[in-house]
Amino acid sequence: MKYRSEITGTGSFVPPRIYTNFDLEKMMDTTDEWIQQRTGIEQRHWVDEGTTTSDLALVASIEAIKNAGLDKSDIDMIIFATLSPDHEFPGTGCFLQAKLGIPEIAVLDIRQQCTGFIYGLSIADKFIQSGSHKNILVVGAEVHSKGLDRTPNGRNVAVLFGDGAGAVVCSRKELIDPKKDSRIISTHLYADGNFAKELWIPAPGNAMGAERVNHAMLNEGLQYPQMNGKSVFVHATKRMAECLVHSCKEAGFELSDIDVFLFHQANLRINSKVAEILSIPEEKVFNTIQNYGNTTAATIPLGMNDALKAGVLKKGMLVASAAFGSGFTWASAIWRQ
Ligand code: ACO
Repeated sequence: MKYRSEITGTGSFVPPRIYTNFDLEKMMDTTDEWIQQRTGIEQRHWVDEGTTTSDLALVASIEAIKNAGLDKSDIDMIIFATLSPDHEFPGTGCFLQAKLGIPEIAVLDIRQQCTGFIYGLSIADKFIQSGSHKNILVVGAEVHSKGLDRTPNGRNVAVLFGDGAGAVVCSRKELIDPKKDSRIISTHLYADGNFAKELWIPAPGNAMGAERVNHAMLNEGLQYPQMNGKSVFVHATKRMAECLVHSCKEAGFELSDIDVFLFHQANLRINSKVAEILSIPEEKVFNTIQNYGNTTAATIPLGMNDALKAGVLKKGMLVASAAFGSGFTWASAIWRQ
C-alpha cells in the first residue's frame, strides 16, 4: 500500500490588537511611508502581556482539527515550529499538547525560523508515507512582539515582525491518481550555516562565554534579533526562485501549471522579485504581509487559511510554497489542495 498525505484541515489565529505603522511612528522614529515602501507592511497584530505562543497555536489548532472533520483524539503527532517559544525548554509543542488535552502522542519541536513550517510539513509527510502515523498536526506559531526592541534603536527590525499562528492537519490517504489526488507532492529542504549570523539572536546562548546571558549582554541588546537586511534580501530571492524551479521540475510540473503561490512573507519586495525572476503573474501570488507583517513559521499556514477563506485557494488546485529565513534555511513544497 502506498500512503500519501493530504492537507485535510487548516486553521489560523492572530491576536486582536492591531498596531498600524502610524502607531509605530509614535514609538520608534519611523514612518508609514518608510515601512510601506521598503516592505509592504501596513499593520501587524501583537499580543497583550498575558498571551503566549501556545495560546495562539491552540486556537489555530482547534480550527484546523475541526476543518479536517476530526476529533482531537484522532491526532497522533504534533510538529511545532517556532523561534519564539513559551519557555527555553521544554518545546512549545508540549505546552500546546497539554492545552489540547491529548497526552501521550509524539510531540516534535523544530526551529528553522521562517522555513519552519515547510520543514514541519515535510517531516509530517515522511512519517505519514512510512505508515507509522495517520493524522499529524503541523503548527507554526510566533509571539515576536515580546522579543523586539521597540525603542528607536530597534526600528530596523521591530517594524517587520508580527504575532500569529497557523496550523494544518496532514492525514493519511491511499494513492489512487498521482496527478489528480489532493496530496503533498514534494518537499525540498535546504540550509547553509555559513550564514547563521546574518539573521540571529546571540543571547542567551552557550557560545556567549561563561554565562548564557548577563546584564552586559542585555545592555548591549544581544537578546534582540540582529539582521543584515541586504544579505537576507539577496539570498532570499535567489534561493526561493531556485528551489521552486527544482521542486516543479522534480514533481513533473511546469511553473505555469501552478494555480497559487504561497510564499513566506518577509517582505513584499522579495516576493515581487521572485515572481519577476520566474515570470510568475503577480495575481497568482497570495500575499498577506500587508496585514500581519512577518510572522515567520506561522506565515504559510496563516496565508493558506486566509486564501481558502477568500476563495483564492480551492480544493483541487495545485499550490507551490517557498520560504527563506534565518540559518540560512530555505525550502519549497508542492501540493494539490
Ligand atoms: N524607519 C525609518 N528609517 C529606518 C528604519 C525604520 N524602521 N529602519 C532603518 N531605517 C533607516 C536606516 O537607519 C538607514 O538610514 P541612513 O541611510 O541614514 O543610514 C536607512 O533607513 C536605510 O537602511 P537600510 O537598512 O539600508 O534599509 P534597506 O533599504 O536595506 O531596507 C530592509 C531595510 C527593508 C529590512 C531591507 O534590507 C530588506 O528588505 N531586507 C530583507 C530582509 C527582510 O525583509 N527581513 C525580514 C525578516 S527575515 C526573513 O523573514 C527571511
